[in-house]
Amino acid sequence: MTVTNAFRATLDQIVAAVGDLPAAPAVMSSAMKLTSNTESKIADISKVLSSDQSISAKAMKLANSPFYGRKRQVKTLEEAILVLGFDEVRSIIMAASAQKMFASDDPDGPESKLWRHSFGTAVAARQIARWLGHPDEGEVYVAGLLHDIGKLVLLQNLKDRYMEVVTQVEAETGSFRILEQQALHFNHCDVASMLLSKWSFPSDLVQALTSHHRPPTFRAGTTAPIAHVVSLASDISKHLDVGFADERIDPLFRHPSAIILNLGHEATEELLLETYTIYHSEMSLFESP
Ligand SMILES: [Fe+2]
Ligand SMILES: [Fe+2]
Repeated sequence: MTVTNAFRATLDQIVAAVGDLPAAPAVMSSAMKLTSNTESKIADISKVLSSDQSISAKAMKLANSPFYGRKRQVKTLEEAILVLGFDEVRSIIMAASAQKMFASDDPDGPESKLWRHSFGTAVAARQIARWLGHPDEGEVYVAGLLHDIGKLVLLQNLKDRYMEVVTQVEAETGSFRILEQQALHFNHCDVASMLLSKWSFPSDLVQALTSHHRPPTFRAGTTAPIAHVVSLASDISKHLDVGFADERIDPLFRHPSAIILNLGHEATEELLLETYTIYHSEMSLFESP
């Protein structure tokens, strides 16, 4: 792929302003490389899971939760994988590694707010994908989880300079996207795109993150681009009131992606309710050690 001069200038600008971008957490990279249709997937995913104790503990806890209604206790990782299913385990690995990146001691601080918003977006994105019968449910979940990771990178690298943007968003004087553009001449989507390309994530995922504030057009009857799913999911997450809520569209069915995805008042309200319930039950998995 050729990188245009204009894009190159932006990349140089970002590196100059932000510095070197972090490497992907090892467990996240391994989980992304797992494919969902190999014969050896249980052995492979069990290997990835057992490389991280806190993540495997979460998988065991979830497999033993009332939601899965098992009469007998699940005692081994292999059993847990069978109970939860491949996609669910991959989602836990991705969410638990993302949570480590957003970790902060301050539950009201910007990292914690970003984490809760991102987790809510991932849950909402998965529910939308199920509603639409989208073929890439797992990828849609990861896109939701990482869609605003550029904000985290900016926060961790630019500190006080980016806190000015955060303070203005909290004072409701503007949106992240516009304030970032004014202060830095690029926004969190550009940073996410660079970061995920560096992490060698699939190009459609990178594209979805780059364009989640300006999703591409698509033909009716074809698979909706992930960017539309993430764009609406991010707004559903804002309606949970658990993190930042700039640019929130109310009511949800007026969101441009809800219109394009043909999700009316009833569907968006149902999706919000489902997301609320799942968010609060699954978040408990991440709140305890
Ligand atoms: Fe965003
Ligand atoms: Fe967002």
